Amino acid sequence: MVNWLSRVVCVCIVCCLLLFDFSVEQQENILVLGEERIALIELRSSLGIRAKEWPIKKNPCTDWVGVSCSPSNSRVVEINISRFTRTIKGSQNPLFSVDAMQNLTALEAFNASNFALHGNIPDWFGLSFTSLQVLDLSSCGITGTIPSTFGNFINLTSLYLSDNNLAGSIPLSLGQSSRLSVLDLSKNSLSGDIPESFSSLRNLSSLDMSLNSLSGEIPPGIGKLSLLKRLNLSGNSLSSSIPFQLGDLSNLVDLDISKNSLVGPLPANFFASMRQIRFLVMAHANFSGEFPEILWSLPQLRFLDASGNNFTGRLPDVGPNVSFTGAIINLASNMFFGNLTTVIRRFSFVNLSANYLQGTVPDYARVNVSLSSNCLDNVPDQRNQRECSLFYSDRTPAISGKKNRNIMFWAVLGGVALSVLLVIFVVVLCVCLHKKGATEQRGTAEEPAPTRTNPQFPGVSLNFSILGNSFDYLQILQATGEFNNKNLIKHGHSGDLYTGLLEGEIPVVIKKVDFQSVKKEAYMVELDNFCKVPSHFRLVPLLGYCLEKDNEKFLVYKYMPNGDLSSVLFRNTNADDEKLHSLDWITRLKIAIGAAEGLCYLHHDCTPPLVHRDVQASSILLDDKFEVRLGSLSKVCVQEGDIHPRRFTRLLHMPQTSKQGTSGSPSATFAYDVYCFGKVLLELVTGKMGMSEANDASVKEWLNVIMPYINIYDKELVTNIIDPSLIIDEDLLEEVWAIAIVARSCLNPKPSKRPLMRYILKALENPLTVVRDTSSSRGSWNASLFGSWRSSSSDVVVVPEPTASKIEGGSWRTGNRRHNFIN
Ligand SMILES: *[C@@H]1O[C@H](CO)[C@@H](O)[C@H](O)[C@H]1NC(C)=O
Ligand SMILES: *[C@@H]1O[C@H](CO)[C@@H](O)[C@H](O)[C@H]1NC(C)=O
Ligand SMILES: *[C@@H]1O[C@H](CO)[C@@H](O)[C@H](O)[C@H]1NC(C)=O
Ligand SMILES: *[C@@H]1O[C@H](CO)[C@@H](O)[C@H](O)[C@H]1NC(C)=O
Ligand SMILES: *[C@@H]1O[C@H](CO)[C@@H](O)[C@H](O)[C@H]1NC(C)=O
Ligand SMILES: *[C@@H]1O[C@H](CO)[C@@H](O)[C@H](O)[C@H]1NC(C)=O
Ligand SMILES: *[C@@H]1O[C@H](CO)[C@@H](O)[C@H](O)[C@H]1NC(C)=O
Ligand SMILES: *[C@@H]1O[C@H](CO)[C@@H](O)[C@H](O)[C@H]1NC(C)=O
Ligand SMILES: *[C@@H]1O[C@H](CO)[C@@H](O)[C@H](O)[C@H]1NC(C)=O
Ligand SMILES: *[C@@H]1O[C@H](CO)[C@@H](O)[C@H](O)[C@H]1NC(C)=O
Ligand SMILES: *[C@@H]1O[C@H](CO)[C@@H](O)[C@H](O)[C@H]1NC(C)=O
Ligand SMILES: *[C@@H]1O[C@H](CO)[C@@H](O)[C@H](O)[C@H]1NC(C)=O
Repeated sequence: MVNWLSRVVCVCIVCCLLLFDFSVEQQENILVLGEERIALIELRSSLGIRAKEWPIKKNPCTDWVGVSCSPSNSRVVEINISRFTRTIKGSQNPLFSVDAMQNLTALEAFNASNFALHGNIPDWFGLSFTSLQVLDLSSCGITGTIPSTFGNFINLTSLYLSDNNLAGSIPLSLGQSSRLSVLDLSKNSLSGDIPESFSSLRNLSSLDMSLNSLSGEIPPGIGKLSLLKRLNLSGNSLSSSIPFQLGDLSNLVDLDISKNSLVGPLPANFFASMRQIRFLVMAHANFSGEFPEILWSLPQLRFLDASGNNFTGRLPDVGPNVSFTGAIINLASNMFFGNLTTVIRRFSFVNLSANYLQGTVPDYARVNVSLSSNCLDNVPDQRNQRECSLFYSDRTPAISGKKNRNIMFWAVLGGVALSVLLVIFVVVLCVCLHKKGATEQRGTAEEPAPTRTNPQFPGVSLNFSILGNSFDYLQILQATGEFNNKNLIKHGHSGDLYTGLLEGEIPVVIKKVDFQSVKKEAYMVELDNFCKVPSHFRLVPLLGYCLEKDNEKFLVYKYMPNGDLSSVLFRNTNADDEKLHSLDWITRLKIAIGAAEGLCYLHHDCTPPLVHRDVQASSILLDDKFEVRLGSLSKVCVQEGDIHPRRFTRLLHMPQTSKQGTSGSPSATFAYDVYCFGKVLLELVTGKMGMSEANDASVKEWLNVIMPYINIYDKELVTNIIDPSLIIDEDLLEEVWAIAIVARSCLNPKPSKRPLMRYILKALENPLTVVRDTSSSRGSWNASLFGSWRSSSSDVVVVPEPTASKIEGGSWRTGNRRHNFIN
């Protein structure tokens, strides 16, 4: 037995020695990387990369997925974290935190496509990574602008920034990256002109700027990019006529200039040198004039879409003798006229609907030729007789003008036609204007957004890369214990809330939206809000969603350890003894300020400004440090009367009544939020929870009782209503008094007299300035204004103005005048 034991021990020791040996060897490998290894490890934790891809104990150069090092000096030359899944912790706050990379100055390729990096591209990118050749940041949820330091990427050959939320103009300096071969800025919100400096990018072979808001003229210098094979400018607001220099792009294979506001006819012989062109898209670009004849016979053409313009002309009378077939041509919604000709036999598919073709349809035009809404004889779905004769009579002089006819006859006919035309023109104009209004509305509703369309809701597109993880139904089931009742937090008005544990360890809150009881709209609005108002630290963090099921959708939020204000103000610390633990005043004030910050963000920092519409204690969620995260975002909508109503509100016909929070839907005004916030403030002061959720009648009754005790001239009165469980000394009493006064001003029965959220925030941050008035003329304010609640149409409180003001001896002033925010 002893013998056997000693043998086992021996084996163990040998094993240990071997292992030790091995780890020493590995240690050496790791040492080679030195400083850069530390940077990588920092990056690993700041981005939340999983041990599966980047095992911390292994050598990054050889064993980390997507990391490559230079064989000569072991410096990191490539990082490819494309499509990596972040750790749950990392995905909770997927920021663009890559500071650790600053030291990886030998980096040549960085690919983070489809990896959430919410935030701005750091300015130092262009300064640190001068050796960079490939940068792929597509679909990362990036915001902000393209840093002008990008011009320092002198060795850059490929730059992909597509499908983000980049705004602002394209920096001119980008024209300095003269080695660029691929530049993809598509699907962002870039505006301004296309920089003329792009004409220096002589090695460019692919330029994609589609689906942005670029305006102005296409720079003629683009015509100098002789290697260009692919040019996509679709879906912008480019205007004026297309520069003829673009016709020099003789290597173009794909050209897309569709969906712009270009002007007039194409330059003569524009396509004459573009012999390579295969895909040519110029639909809905506002072109007019003669259709370039050469487009009927470009040798490489496979796809031509020129629909929705005002091209005109007859089909050429040439036979199908060009050496190409299989191409598709779409000329729908133009003004082609005359007879069908054999030219259409050159294509395998032709769409000529909504033109003015006439005559009979030959047999060869009966397959794969779309001919609806023309003036043809023997096919269904044609324009009516009047429309057709109008169109042709309009042209008759031009068409048969060469023939020798009696001038007088034409003059008379012309006069008659003209007056008929005039009448019809007026009628058509009216109809058109009417229709235009409608299409314009639709136009903005479907404005190109850098988003994917949700098949569930055609027409509404959501940027899912911003919305966090997509969880599958099984994960949701497991997390909530199959929606076990003991995990149910409450039945909310926009869905049932459950607690859950994702992957058995991450606490989350899951909202189950059942379309049988909840309107789809509420859920869409909430998702849309998270898209539009990405991760502000005062809004509840969304971790992801599950859209798998048809009739039930799930939203997964970060778990808030302290629940919401309605449940936290008093809590049984110990179920056995009845003692209630109540929040101290400092925490209550912190919560008030936090909630005000959240509302301030919605009211004043969002464009367009948003109204929460569901401000109450249970919407104020609290994390472990009692930091406020506003929840219940399903009623958020645009401030009423906003000139740019949000896309979804129009789309979903959101109720926007102006009645103030009685029954039905709450009103969409700042003043309504302020009123509700006032009730929350009073709850904090009085400890009487439930009022912010109560119905109107009981609230009124409550306010009638309380208001007389809130008086700017009498601090002591307020002690009658203060929560008895608050322990307050003389200093704090003054703060409580101030907050009560702010609350009262929020509850002014006249919405127009309620202060703006930003003034409220300032007041909460400096409560004593509200009540301590040393300098100005409070005495002159009419004391009767502070009389009974019923007659209080105007209360007066001094509060700092946020701008142009500074703190002087603890109080905010605007010049010499204190800002009067309740009047
Ligand atoms: C890295 O980049 C290549 C394309 O260059 C891609 O195919 C690959 O999937 C990426 N991801 C990783 C982890 O290597
Ligand atoms: C980045 O990686 C993705 C794969 O996830 C790949 O499709 C893409 O081509 C890569 N980008 C570059 C510039 O190689
Ligand atoms: C870069 O490396 C130096 C040490 O050489 C270190 O002091 C510095 O903090 C590093 N920078 C970053 C951003 O990690
Ligand atoms: C750019 O590339 C060239 C060779 O292609 C190289 O010699 C040069 O050092 C590179 N520049 C930088 C800043 O890496
Ligand atoms: C352009 O590309 C070619 C090869 O694709 C390369 O030889 C040349 O050096 C590049 N020019 C510039 C200015 O980078
Ligand atoms: C141009 O870009 C748009 C949107 O990004 C895309 O739908 C279209 O297919 C592209 N056109 C060509 C010819 O590639
Ligand atoms: C369309 O083109 C016409 C001239 O052909 C021009 O007058 C009009 O302004 C253009 N429309 C837009 C929206 O740019
Ligand atoms: C075509 O021209 C007519 C007037 O000639 C104009 O009413 C119509 O809006 C134009 N259509 C397009 C798509 O530009
Ligand atoms: C095509 O046919 C037309 C007459 O229909 C003729 O003039 C032309 O030369 C032909 N082209 C070719 C390439 O055969
Ligand atoms: C032809 O174009 C019209 C107008 O754009 C469209 O409504 C129709 O569906 C197209 N026909 C076919 C067969 O694609
Ligand atoms: C009609 O279209 C189909 C599919 O696009 C194609 O296979 C067929 O050859 C076409 N027919 C003719 C007569 O061009
Ligand atoms: C158009 O076709 C009709 C027969 O459908 C024919 O009578 C007429 O002459 C043709 N017009 C022209 C200009 O070719």
